[in-house]
Amino acid sequence: MIYPFEGKVAVVTGASGGIGRASALAFGRSGASVLVSDVQDEKGQETVDLIINAGGTAHFQHCDVSDEAQVDDLVATAISRFGTLDFAHNNAGINRPGSDEWTTPDWALSINVNLNSVMYCMRAQISAMLAKGGGAIVNTASVNGLVGNPSQPGYVSSKHGVIGLTRSAALRYAKENIRVNAVCPGVVDTPMVKDIATVPQYRAAIEAMTPMGRMAQPEEIASAVLWLCSNQSSFVTGHPLVIDGGATAI
Ligand SMILES: NC(=O)c1ccc[n+]([C@@H]2O[C@H](COP(=O)([O-])OP(=O)(O)OC[C@H]3O[C@@H](n4cnc5c(N)ncnc54)[C@H](O)[C@@H]3O)[C@@H](O)[C@H]2O)c1
Repeated sequence: MIYPFEGKVAVVTGASGGIGRASALAFGRSGASVLVSDVQDEKGQETVDLIINAGGTAHFQHCDVSDEAQVDDLVATAISRFGTLDFAHNNAGINRPGSDEWTTPDWALSINVNLNSVMYCMRAQISAMLAKGGGAIVNTASVNGLVGNPSQPGYVSSKHGVIGLTRSAALRYAKENIRVNAVCPGVVDTPMVKDIATVPQYRAAIEAMTPMGRMAQPEEIASAVLWLCSNQSSFVTGHPLVIDGGATAI
């Protein structure tokens, strides 16, 4: 789906690959100017090149989303370079299945990168959107924001937190024409899950747990992100949209 986003400006975090790259490309195809950001600079620039080669407009800026000053600077760049900010996809995240999130350092890392970051991003973005009279924000949560996992309390709590933050911001800014929603993907075939996706028996196990019998492709999450930013979802706010092939419907 291509939306009429000419003249609009979108910022996407974690856009060097996976879901963020797919959403940045989709924004670009729809005519928005895209501020691509990530901590992986080379791959981020690749995303920009893909957008530009397809006829779009984009710029890369390094941004560690767990650093509030870098996030503020990112939003300032959207304004200085493209003049405004209409859409934000707060998507950067980490998931480290081998770590022990029952210990303080691993817990803190997941909470900082996956949850505190969304607070920093939304604060800066909402301030810019208030100044221009509105906007739309989509945060990447997860089905892990809806269910527990005994070995990943940090990841799970961060994603539950993203949904809580999404709902809270949606309520606070509902009358200011800023809609705030979340996407909750099941397993998506991205670099984040390459360790399982590339091992046939693990991949088969995930596919067997998913009623639709497969993993999602990043573009299937991106299309929901763009819909949530578009006027087609003009009365949708505070919603955690589950995109999991039926996995949590069981
Ligand atoms: N792949 C899945 O199965 C799945 C499922 C549900 C939710 N998610 C969520 O989707 C989002 C995107 O993940 P993905 O699957 O595309 O994986 P990915 O690893 O391809 O993308 C994550 C991106 O975030 C970037 N990143 C990591 N730490 C960062 C930081 N501190 N600052 C800025 N950028 C940082 C990475 O460099 C990477 O480019 C994440 O929030 C993830 O938790 C993924």
